[in-house]
Amino acid sequence: MRERVSASAPGKIILFGEHAVVYGRPAIAVPVSHVQATATITPHEHGVIIRSINTGESIAIEAADPDHPLAAITRLTLAAFNIRSADLAITVESSVPIAAGLGSGAAVSVAVVRALAGWYQRAIDAETVSRLAYEVERLHHGTPSGIDNTVIAYHRPVYFVRGQPIQTFSVARPFSVVIANTGRPSLTKIAVGDVRRGWEAQRERYEAWFDQIGAIVQQARSAIESGAVEQLGPLMDQNQALLRNIDVSSPELEHLIAVAKRAGAAGAKLVGGGRGGNLIAMIDASHRDTVAAALQAAGATQVIITTVQ
Ligand code: PMV
Repeated sequence: MRERVSASAPGKIILFGEHAVVYGRPAIAVPVSHVQATATITPHEHGVIIRSINTGESIAIEAADPDHPLAAITRLTLAAFNIRSADLAITVESSVPIAAGLGSGAAVSVAVVRALAGWYQRAIDAETVSRLAYEVERLHHGTPSGIDNTVIAYHRPVYFVRGQPIQTFSVARPFSVVIANTGRPSLTKIAVGDVRRGWEAQRERYEAWFDQIGAIVQQARSAIESGAVEQLGPLMDQNQALLRNIDVSSPELEHLIAVAKRAGAAGAKLVGGGRGGNLIAMIDASHRDTVAAALQAAGATQVIITTVQ
């Protein structure tokens, strides 16, 4: 009998294109390995129990609400493996901040699927992992585009269009971004719901803004593929202006974006659902420490520097 199996999954950031991606426009996202969700499986006497170190919860799967994300991903995965009865304990721990635009829900789901695959010695491809995690994203978000589960399950930069096979792209010249947390949690589901109401009320305006975001994503992809990374900062600023139009920014985000730019960032924008959570700022090597320090001094609760390559 196996004693212990662990698996991990990274967080992610959307470099360009959040929200518009729900409406069929492209988006670019990259994994962020500085933050990780880990699931560990050990034997258990009777039934399946899931423990979350972060929330302190301990739930027996038989008794759990069917919509509970941890119970849901476990049930879905066991069903995909045709396993009807299991005796195991799943312990989940995550350093991906919750409700912060870094894909915490998808990271936890992917870690659980991979750990169960390891436990039952099943070969499982990224597409299946992504599909299972997407089912649970639907419980979190209502109408998820699928970008979070895709970039996290494939663990590589993706150019994503809802409903289409994923495309990867090459990074001609590595570049760095600072990721800073406003410390204000924000549920993606609420921001996505508000954007939908805005779109329903003013379809033409929103469609035009989504088109402009889609065009920025195309330009960003070309810039990344050709090594013209100096274009990315201004493109982030343009993307942020459109995110502001669709009302998913917040005073905390705007404040830290202004701080990053004053400290020398080439551009900055919110990431993920918005309204709080994290922002990213484009930096060159000479500004990385000053921008990170300025964000910390201005109250960012976590600052990560990641290199896209
Ligand atoms: O907040 P996050 O990390 O879950 O990212 C959400 C991205 C959105 O485009 C706002 C929603 C989606 O489903 O793509």
